[in-house]
Amino acid sequence: MKVLVAYYSETGNTEKIAKTIYEEASKEHEAHLKRIKDINADTLNDYDLVFLGSACHSADLAAPVKKILKALPKSPKFKLAGFFTHSTLTPEQNEHGQALFDEWASKCIDSFESVSGEKRIDFRGYYHCQGAPSLPIQAFIRSEITKSDDEWETYIREARKHPSQEDLEKASDFARKIMSMSN
Ligand SMILES: Cc1cc2nc3c(=O)[nH]c(=O)nc-3n(C[C@H](O)[C@H](O)[C@H](O)COP(=O)(O)O)c2cc1C
Repeated sequence: MKVLVAYYSETGNTEKIAKTIYEEASKEHEAHLKRIKDINADTLNDYDLVFLGSACHSADLAAPVKKILKALPKSPKFKLAGFFTHSTLTPEQNEHGQALFDEWASKCIDSFESVSGEKRIDFRGYYHCQGAPSLPIQAFIRSEITKSDDEWETYIREARKHPSQEDLEKASDFARKIMSMSN
């Protein structure tokens, strides 16, 4: 199987997940790792399975990734899987994680699913995890989202650890599962 791992990453979090998926895919398949800027929608047609990754921007996939999705043909032969990193806590990390994730990151999932539905793309699933926020994003979260110094300290102590080793292991598991379903 020919596998493409294509990703958009500004500060390296999504890139770590992309490299992990690529390493997993390379064990048994011909795999290629590319940044979004180095591909176009036609590139995907050369592959059997495409893992498409993005940093989460404004609660959604980053604009270059949305652009590629929009340009994809209808009923392509490749299968698609998604991954993204976000600075928002996940439901597993915090009791308010579900509400925060719904507000600040869940459109990433909606975008993958709605484009796949519209274009009849065989979408096999997605993986996401937290990624450490850059300084400007930290300033935004501190002033607009966290409600106290204590909440902020708890948040940033955790967020700085991601993607963690466990996140990378889960990304490998995800890649293995998607590839076994797609063979
Ligand atoms: C312009 C911008 C907007 C962002 N908006 C969100 C957001 O709405 N929700 C969120 O969870 N994270 C948001 N983030 C944080 C990133 O998604 C997060 O830090 C991610 O791991 C960055 O991935 P990268 O290192 O691959 O660029 C934003 C980051 C940037 C730069």
